[in-house]
Amino acid sequence: PVVWVPCDAAARSVGADAVADAFAAAGVTVRRNGSRGMLWLEPMVEVETERGRVGYANVEPSEVDALLAGALDGTDRCLGVVDEHPWLTRQHRVSFARVGVTEPTDIAAYRAHGGLAGLERALTLTGEQVVAEVTESGLRGRGGAGFPAGIKWDTVRKAAADLKFVCCNADEGDSGTFADRMLIEGDPFTLIEGMTIAAVAVGATEGFVYLRSEYPHAIRTLRRAIDIAYAHGVLGGSVLGSGHRFDLDVRVGAGAYICGEETSMLDSLEGKRGEVRAKPPIPALQGLFGQPTVVNNVLTLSAVPMVLADGGAAYAALGTGKSRGTQVFQLGGNVARGGVVEADFGISLRELVEEYGGGTASGRPVKAVQVGGPLGAYLPPAKFDLPMDYEAFAAADAMVGHGGIVVFDDSMDAGAMARFAMEFCAKESCGKCTPCRVGSTRGVEVIDRIRAGTQREANLVLLDDLCTTMTKGSLCAMGGLTPMPVRSALEHFPEDFGVAPATAD
Ligand code: NAI
Ligand code: SF4
Repeated sequence: PVVWVPCDAAARSVGADAVADAFAAAGVTVRRNGSRGMLWLEPMVEVETERGRVGYANVEPSEVDALLAGALDGTDRCLGVVDEHPWLTRQHRVSFARVGVTEPTDIAAYRAHGGLAGLERALTLTGEQVVAEVTESGLRGRGGAGFPAGIKWDTVRKAAADLKFVCCNADEGDSGTFADRMLIEGDPFTLIEGMTIAAVAVGATEGFVYLRSEYPHAIRTLRRAIDIAYAHGVLGGSVLGSGHRFDLDVRVGAGAYICGEETSMLDSLEGKRGEVRAKPPIPALQGLFGQPTVVNNVLTLSAVPMVLADGGAAYAALGTGKSRGTQVFQLGGNVARGGVVEADFGISLRELVEEYGGGTASGRPVKAVQVGGPLGAYLPPAKFDLPMDYEAFAAADAMVGHGGIVVFDDSMDAGAMARFAMEFCAKESCGKCTPCRVGSTRGVEVIDRIRAGTQREANLVLLDDLCTTMTKGSLCAMGGLTPMPVRSALEHFPEDFGVAPATAD
């Protein structure tokens, strides 16, 4: 038989490599796929059958012979045909369509599953037409800011320059986010194809993926995929036989959160210490080495092949309001069923946390979720009907961010989390501007005084003032957004700061 064992880092962290070795020793053909994203079931093994690939949850190396003999069939460890698993069939996998299905660096399988159709179509269009498709799709930046990708690309396309770049931000520093990593480890050609389409659209000839050093498996997989893409003429002097050149390389970060901010990332790519640049000029006009540069997140670029293959209108038909298409949500923290859920924008937090996530792993009540990384808001269950939509979240003083959702049970101390937000900012601040560099340290002190009950009223006023100064006076989102978790924690959980909850009149 043929057996699939994920090579994704999350599956490896719970023993997938040993399971793969055990299957190989038992004489079966082992193929390594990405993870399907049902992380609580890893290592999840799939056995090819006439019905399709049948899954087995949490497989141990010692169980391999029993599994092959059918001893797990009929038990709750056997998941049935994986493609029919309700956790997957409810989802709408666009960017993640091939993740977990194919071998990550098998370019023939990539093509057989619809890969390269978008690039082939892009090569029949003018740059202006490619950008028009992306604009029509409504695709917005998945790194968090949600800026329309088509407008950004058009700015780069129209800029007159001999040299332009496409840079992919794969620094994925937000706590509770792992979709960039899973995409790169599970289906790297999608990212390569998306970047190549961007290059063709704007007239760029060189590209870099800025990938964090904490992702060694992703680095290896992507480098291998780039070599294969060159060997198959997807990259290089004549992209798929066209007149376009596009060279792509990987650059590895060194662990600074701020290098996920686009201008710091560009500094780091140039070999400098990553420090935020003032905008304007925007990178679209003066980016890497001062040249016009597309900077997009992994998930933005990975949505592009489908936009070109199926047309902008097909992508725009998904989603809600001004949030078009799908988002790859990542469920983490204290959650029973953590993993990746790709769904149309508009899905509610409740559906994600309760129906997909199944509540907390501890079995205690959910107290809050933090959405959008360490700079995102804490939201209580009373807010769980909020639809996933950039505008709806902004109106609720929260943000969708990169789609990370971290779940906390009722043992969480929101006051401690607010303190942590300030502490995190103090540690990760690039130091360029005062509200962030100094304000974050003062913020820790003020929160400590509030929690200790020292002149609580006066310090609450001071904290409010400090948060306003950081929001309005910081040069980038690091200092500018740190007040979001602080304020939301105080608003929804005042008792964790020793403050009596406001009573409704
Ligand atoms: P921003 O709103 O300043 O810019 C968004 C993007 O649009 C940038 O690429 C910018 O260069 C571009 N842009 C703006 N005006 C433009 C124009 N007229 N033409 C062409 N391009 C233009 O936001 P920023 O500072 O890039 O990102 C902040 C966001 O980052 C936050 O909202 C947060 O959600 C997110 N974030 C994400 C993290 C992650 O790990 N993915 C970590 C921390 C924050
Ligand atoms: Fe640097 Fe913080 Fe200012 Fe951003 S807000 S530029 S991280 S000091």
